[in-house]
Formats: sequence, structure tokens, C-alpha cells
Amino acid sequence: MKKILITGAAGQIGTLLTERLRREYGVENIVATNIEAGKNEPLEKDGLFEVMDVRDGKRLLELSKQYKIDTIINLAALLSVVGEKNPSLLWDVNMNGLYNCLEVAHELNLKLFTPSSIAAFGPQTPKDKTPQDTIQRPTSIYGVSKVSGELLCDYYFRKFGVDTRGVRFPGLISYGSMPGGGTTDYAVHIYHAAVKQGAFTCGLKADTYLDMMYMPDALDAIVQLCEADPSRLIHRNAFNITAMSFCPSEIGAAIQQRKPDFKLDYDIDPMKQAIADSWPNSLDDSCAREEWDWNPKYDLEQMTDDMLGRLEIEYEKK
Ligand code: SER
Repeated sequence: MKKILITGAAGQIGTLLTERLRREYGVENIVATNIEAGKNEPLEKDGLFEVMDVRDGKRLLELSKQYKIDTIINLAALLSVVGEKNPSLLWDVNMNGLYNCLEVAHELNLKLFTPSSIAAFGPQTPKDKTPQDTIQRPTSIYGVSKVSGELLCDYYFRKFGVDTRGVRFPGLISYGSMPGGGTTDYAVHIYHAAVKQGAFTCGLKADTYLDMMYMPDALDAIVQLCEADPSRLIHRNAFNITAMSFCPSEIGAAIQQRKPDFKLDYDIDPMKQAIADSWPNSLDDSCAREEWDWNPKYDLEQMTDDMLGRLEIEYEKK
């Protein structure tokens, strides 16, 4: 990777990935794009930034040529909860956006990273230690788009030799950016609420296990897989990756150990609960470990120390 274009750069992953890639690859080599401006000042002022709707394939092609891009990182997408409220918009953005990225990658011979998700699994999937290759059949529109995307990326690699790569991200937890309408968002909001209000009402049941990951590990995964030796990659797209699996009562207990007055209660959101219940409890990520040395650094304890420490400083400043 030398010249990288990021779509959806103002989102939860994009904001932090852009910062990191600008540091590591040079400000002049990273083109951050987003559907609208005015969302994020540092993103727009500290380097190259272009307004681009990923559904506009012509503009994606023009920008890729203009900046001599060699890698597209496609992060423009709607997540699971917003997707259930507007399935046609989700399909339009997630699928037509990915299709445009694949077409441009094919035409200009670029590398393409696009994330899949734990949402690509469904109720018939084995729930514990979910294998890399297994039954998928998701029930959310977001999950349907993710499986379709996995297959489309495999197809472009097999048919046209496009260098497509991707991981199945679990819920991502970050302090420097907020998630945008997913089922796993509670695991970010709980930390903010713990620092600000000392209490949180969770929309998922206490014993709902889901895979999760702290953002520094997620950014490592993107960089590591994009830089991985292609001759080692048997899967290429849709690698299972995880760093931890916990349920709301466990993250609550981790916070209570550090903030004994923290109060956690529950008010179950049936739509979110149904989505979470259709996803795995914990993934088997051994293929990613074998094929490109995936090895996350943060567990629940380390992440909780870091999140609370950073958010306390952040909210004290305000
Ligand atoms: N974090 C996403 C969601 O909850 C899963 O990919 O929708």
C-alpha cells in the first residue's frame, strides 16, 4: 500500500484509521473521502479530503486516477440497526458502493479491503467457536449485504484477479469516535455513560454474548491483512477475527471493579435482541492467525482500563 483512498472516512473506523495511516504512510498518501463534509474537522483539515458518495462510481474512478491510488479501503456502509429501519438504503449504499469499488479496482488494478462482519452469520450457524467456513444464512439486511459482499469479493478475485481482502469484524469499541447504529454499540455507550452519569440502561439481555474488539486491534488487522504476503492467503476475504467475547453483565462487572458505584440495568430492545441472538457467541479466528499472523493485544480488562482512563480525561476537559 502506498496511495490509499478511504471511503466512509468520517465513520467510527474511518476517523481513526485515517489518523493512523496519515502518520504511518504520510499525509500526502492518504485520501479520506466521505459522503458529506462538515462532520469532522481534523479529518478534513489535516490532510487530503474529498466529498464522495460511494454510490457514484464515476467519481470514485476519477479520484482514484487523479491521486494515483493503489489501494481502496471501503468503509462506507450502514450498520445493522439503521439497516432494519431502511433496508433499501442499506442495500443501495452497501452493495452498490462495494460494486463500484470492485469495478474501479478491476479497471485500475488496485487492491481493495472491505470489511465483513459477525452479522454475516445467522441462527443456523454454530454459535460457539464459529468456524471460518460454515453455514451463514443471516436474517438482518445488513448481514445479507455482508454475505453478498463476501461472495462478490471472492468472485472478483477468482474471475478477474482483483486483489480483494477482508475480515469479519466483531463489535468495535473506540474512544475517539462513536459507532453509527449497530447492535454492538452498547459496548461503547456503556463506557461513556459510566464516566458521565455513573449508570447505563442496556438494550440487550445480561447474558447475550458477542465477539468484540478494541479499535487499536481492528486498525492493526486492516493494515496487517492489506500488507500480508498474498501467497499465504488461502481465504483472502471474510476472515473471522475476534479479540474477546463478553455479555453485558461481564462488561458491567469490569466497569464496577473500577467504579464500584456504577449502576447497570436493562430495558430490552426486541429488534436489537433478535439481531444479537442470531449472531455467534464467539468466533474461531485460527485461519487469520495462521494465514497472516493475526494476534490481538487487548482483552476486556486492558480495554476497560484504557477506555475509562481516556474518557475520564476527555470529560474532565469539557
Ligand atoms: N457492529 C456492527 C453492528 O452491530 C456489526 O458489524 O451492526
